[in-house]
Amino acid sequence: MSTFKNLKFDFQGKNVVVTGGARGIGLQITRQFLEAGATVAVWEFSTETIETARKELATWGTKVHFQQVDVSKYATVETAAQQLPFAVDILINNAGITRDKSFSKMSVEDFEAVINTNLSGVFFCTKALLPKFADTPNKRIISISSVVALYGNFGQTNYVAAKAGVIGMTKTWARELSRKGFTANAVAPGFTMTPMVEAMPAEARKAVEDKIPAGRWGKPSDIANACLFLASEEASYISGTVISVDGALVV
Ligand code: NAI
Repeated sequence: MSTFKNLKFDFQGKNVVVTGGARGIGLQITRQFLEAGATVAVWEFSTETIETARKELATWGTKVHFQQVDVSKYATVETAAQQLPFAVDILINNAGITRDKSFSKMSVEDFEAVINTNLSGVFFCTKALLPKFADTPNKRIISISSVVALYGNFGQTNYVAAKAGVIGMTKTWARELSRKGFTANAVAPGFTMTPMVEAMPAEARKAVEDKIPAGRWGKPSDIANACLFLASEEASYISGTVISVDGALVV
């Protein structure tokens, strides 16, 4: 169970889809929406990850649904959207992967794998769920980008292209969908401590920490807090923007 002390936001009666919502940042977003009263559908492609999260979140009963979905495959995304047990209020496009290599060593497969999940996946989920949104004036599309989208990064041609593309789509959706009651925003995390990163050698973790003006890694709850704020009715006039959550790494 999360020890996070939730913000005041009240999501009772709201339905949320979190892609990649069973691990790392996505799992923390799922936890915090549940703690704030929402019902959450977790879209996740790893069976093992689903089972671990299912155990952790068992006490939430029917407030949390797990659907096995590969966001990079439109057919499976569309089926999941059809099987969703509720109309959606909030979509969090969080699922993402890395296949880091310097540009000269990056294969076409490395490029396509990351684009398919991190860019096409965001397009596919948003497209399939658009007709599934509830008829309310507070519809939310929140996509997890990255600070590297704003300044590039060695070894991440594929990832940076995808994450910058997410920002472009977000701004376009803000223009196209605002009159229909949507806001569309992106959150750009900096270095965030997730289970994957915890496996890094202490020295490498320290080297990263030294570059962060705030003097510490981000926590998944730092990212989730920004998502809950953007999803709240209090943020209804914020759209088409990117919120960096990075301890001043990129200013
Ligand atoms: P993670 O690897 O711990 O979690 C990602 C989740 O997405 C996993 O459960 C994975 O199984 C799932 N997933 C991957 N591909 C999928 C697919 N095709 N269909 C469905 N689910 C899929 O990663 P983490 O660190 O929690 O990252 C979450 C998001 O935040 C990603 O979009 C990542 O790019 C972004 N991000 C993370 C940063 C960090 O330092 N951890 C920094 C900046 C952005």
